[in-house]
Amino acid sequence: MTITTERLILRPLTLDDAEAAFEWTGDERVAKYMIYSTHESIEITKEWLRSVKTSDTAFEFGFVRKSDNKLIGSGGIRLHDDGFWEFGYNFRYDCWGMGYATEASKAMIELVRSRYGDIKLKAECAAENTASAHVIEKCGLHFAGFGEYQSYDGLKTFKAKIFKL
Ligand SMILES: CC(C)(COP(=O)(O)OP(=O)(O)OC[C@H]1O[C@@H](n2cnc3c(N)ncnc32)[C@H](O)[C@@H]1OP(=O)(O)O)[C@@H](O)C(=O)NCCC(=O)NCCS
Repeated sequence: MTITTERLILRPLTLDDAEAAFEWTGDERVAKYMIYSTHESIEITKEWLRSVKTSDTAFEFGFVRKSDNKLIGSGGIRLHDDGFWEFGYNFRYDCWGMGYATEASKAMIELVRSRYGDIKLKAECAAENTASAHVIEKCGLHFAGFGEYQSYDGLKTFKAKIFKL
């Protein structure tokens, strides 16, 4: 499954992406509000890439910048038991602020809409993560309340903003 947007190619991740992905998975500025902790070695990134699974209800993508064919981020959109599709993303630090997250998110939402029609959407970000909240709102979702989420290792707990459409 590959999607092309104006500036990006959204395509499946492979183990060969480890080196490029480690440029953000190993960057604590990127991992700060993520559910994963900063990868301390490329081996952890490889482990993650081996575990990534895509299905008809969970799409995961690497985001490749068309202009130089470089992998600059990753993200996905998946259906939850509550009937809402949730999307998420993260990008290399030097690629922030260029509208890539909004472009990739809109494309993932469009993919699911084209397959399943009128879908329910949700997204969550740390309450302090203003840039992510802005991306979510630009995708048309509205603030629906506060919540909380924990990192995989249980070491970080964040107050979260929840958005729905
Ligand atoms: C969150 C993240 C994906 C945003 O990516 P991005 O490509 O920079 O996002 P976009 O450029 O599409 O949109 C960001 C918007 O927020 C705005 N913004 C950025 N930082 C901001 C800040 N500190 N305060 C207010 N607005 C901010 C930008 O101006 C932009 O809005 P605009 O297009 O109206 O100017 C990126 O910062 C990232 O990878 N962060 C680390 C991982 C992460 O936190 N992921 C989300 C987990 S929920």
